[in-house]
Parts: sequence; structure tokens; C-alpha cells
Amino acid sequence: MDIMTALKTRRSVRNFKEKDVENEKIMEMIDAARLAPSGNNLQPVEYIIVKDSERRKRLSQIAAFGDFIKTAPLCIVVISKITEHDIEDGSAATENILLAAHGQGLSSCWVAGYKKSYSFEVEEFLNIPDDYRLISILPIGYSDSSPEVANKRKISDVLHEESF
Ligand SMILES: Cc1cc2nc3c(=O)[nH]c(=O)nc-3n(C[C@H](O)[C@H](O)[C@H](O)COP(=O)(O)O)c2cc1C
Repeated sequence: MDIMTALKTRRSVRNFKEKDVENEKIMEMIDAARLAPSGNNLQPVEYIIVKDSERRKRLSQIAAFGDFIKTAPLCIVVISKITEHDIEDGSAATENILLAAHGQGLSSCWVAGYKKSYSFEVEEFLNIPDDYRLISILPIGYSDSSPEVANKRKISDVLHEESF
């Protein structure tokens, strides 16, 4: 799949089949993530794979608006060492995972991790060290639904020329 097709056809998916995600596909997503740009090339972003159903269930209980985490066979939790650009670096890696998932026939939905009331609880549950912060929680699997295309602003509504 070429990049523009991937960008134009990716959707947030919140329903998944029970089918497991193959290990090679997981490694391909982590490979895509680690290649993301990062400020000063510090590469502070790391990943926690959560497959265990009880642990996914617990994550789905902690993360408000992440109830569907328990229905995905795999969850990749993106964390970043606290640096000047940790949020940007973690977000770039997160988007690479979403696109690498889509490119391999998988689906996901970004569940917020940063600055949420539950961020600390997730960090505690996953033993994330104090000098790292939670960026995103990504339930991933084979889609069991065809979500509608989210309404997006038109190019003419978002584009400014030369100044705002
Ligand atoms: C930073 C961020 C946080 C998000 N958090 C959640 C969330 O907690 N739960 C959820 O169901 N969707 C979450 N989403 C997904 C958005 O709702 C989704 O991207 C948006 O509706 C557009 O749909 P699309 O991804 O299909 O284009 C989040 C997306 C982003 C970028």
C-alpha cells in the first residue's frame, strides 16, 4: 500500500476479531515506530506489548474511553523517557504504529495516555519508571467492523498562505 492510500484509508477501529496478531507483524510495527523522527535524534520512545487478556481487561478498566482495549488481542503501550520533545517523539512513533498496522491489514485506535486522570494508574500498573511518561495506548487487531469515515475539515478550512 502506498503512503497516500494508507493515510486516506486508515480509520480508528474499536471492534476486533478474536484472531491473534502474528509476531512478525508486531515486530514490523515496532520497527516502523523506532524509525520515526525524534528531536535531536534522542529516540526516547519505548514500547510495552500487552497480550495477556486479564492485563488488557485491567487496562480497559483504567483508561476512560478505552473500554474496547479488552476486545483487541494485542495492545502496544507507547512510553517516552522525559526529554524536551518526549510528547512529539512519542506521538510520531504512535502514528507510525497506526500506519504500519493498517499497512499490514490490521486496525487500531489511539487511546489517550498523556495528561489523563488515569495516566499515573496505567504507569503504576505497567511498572513504568518515574523518568518515563505514558504517551498512548494502542489496542490492535483484525477489524470486526467498517467504521464510517470520520468527518475531516476541508483543505480550504485549514490552509493559510504566508500568514494566518
Ligand atoms: C491524542 C488522541 C487521543 C485519542 N484518544 C482516544 C480515546 O481515548 N478513545 C477513543 O475511543 N478514541 C481516541 N482517539 C481517536 C479519535 O477519536 C479519532 O482519531 C478521531 O475520531 C478521528 O477518527 P479517525 O482516527 O478514524 O480519523 C484519540 C486520538 C488521538 C489523536
